[in-house]
Amino acid sequence: MTELDWSKLTFSYTKTNTILISHFDGSKWSEVESNSDDYIRLSAFAGALHYSIECFEGLKAFRGKDGKVRLFRPEENAKRLQRSAKYLGIEAPSTEMFIQMCERSVRENIEFLPPYGSRASLYLRPTLIGSNPQLGVQSSKESTFILLCSPVGAYTGGVLEAIDVVIARNYDRAAPNGTGAFKVGGNYGASLASLNKAHELGFKAVLYLDPATKKYIDEFNSSNFFAIKGNTYITPLSTTILPSITNMSLEVAAADLGMEVERRPVPVEELPTFDEVGECGTAVVITPVHKLVDKPSLESEEETVYTYGDGLCGEKSLQLFNYITDIQYGVREDKFGWTREVEI
Ligand code: PLP
Ligand code: COI
Repeated sequence: MTELDWSKLTFSYTKTNTILISHFDGSKWSEVESNSDDYIRLSAFAGALHYSIECFEGLKAFRGKDGKVRLFRPEENAKRLQRSAKYLGIEAPSTEMFIQMCERSVRENIEFLPPYGSRASLYLRPTLIGSNPQLGVQSSKESTFILLCSPVGAYTGGVLEAIDVVIARNYDRAAPNGTGAFKVGGNYGASLASLNKAHELGFKAVLYLDPATKKYIDEFNSSNFFAIKGNTYITPLSTTILPSITNMSLEVAAADLGMEVERRPVPVEELPTFDEVGECGTAVVITPVHKLVDKPSLESEEETVYTYGDGLCGEKSLQLFNYITDIQYGVREDKFGWTREVEI
């Protein structure tokens, strides 16, 4: 048994029982191996290490009020990984293989699944890398699919704790016709200079504008952007942001709660008109934004500050948070069939 204090979990690495690995040799996937060691043997010439031939997913397993274990929309993660792999030109696992490995990872690491009521979960990190030795810049013929997991709590601060964020106008996370809409590791490497600077300034996240015109809100470094205006849920339409599975679900949830839903370009000038602003995503769930600071450059003293709420989660954001998490923890009827029960 683990000695973990579930209430103290953050979004960080915990060694679990096993990681699962399968290798595609150019024609077929190998039988899945389960290793207790989470170090992998890899050619130092692997394309993943030189040319960022890597993509990944993030999804969570939840222990429900009824004791059942559920994954949230894993087939959507499988499809998104397949899209990312196609972009990189590497082989991806089928949806069936992806889900089977997620379920097996949960089973083999079940004592790391936080109990109901802890507000924590078991985060799964399916990772796909180009793995054959290579020197030239080209898509890898062989790939390796690895299923990692770690128990996690809130991504920043505490659950539903509001954060301060900054718009970094002199940085982009993705190029106008680049990789923004794909979950490739390179996007996260590209965000680090601005994220590190933002952290030094006391901000928890960076909000990027559309890289082509810098007129519209795009997304945060590790989550999508949403805002509430009156009874309307607003979220950016952009070709340079990751299609978030949480956001897609929140749009449905908002409509089901009687709200209007708008997915459209969101001009920066609209920021002062919002009642609530937040981040959404698997890791952050819904994290309310308190202060949003717009700086011409992260190195400049100049800034425009927008403030939302009083540091607590806004009413509509809280309704949406409860709607989604109640489905994940088996408290609310899953009328859209979003969850998948894992036989333990
Ligand atoms: N945007 C970025 C850049 C992310 O890293 C994530 C996290 O996965 C999201 C959005 C949210 O996506 P999802 O809700 O599918 O986790
Ligand atoms: C997730 O929410 O699953 C993510 O992948 C964000 C992450 C990069 C921390």
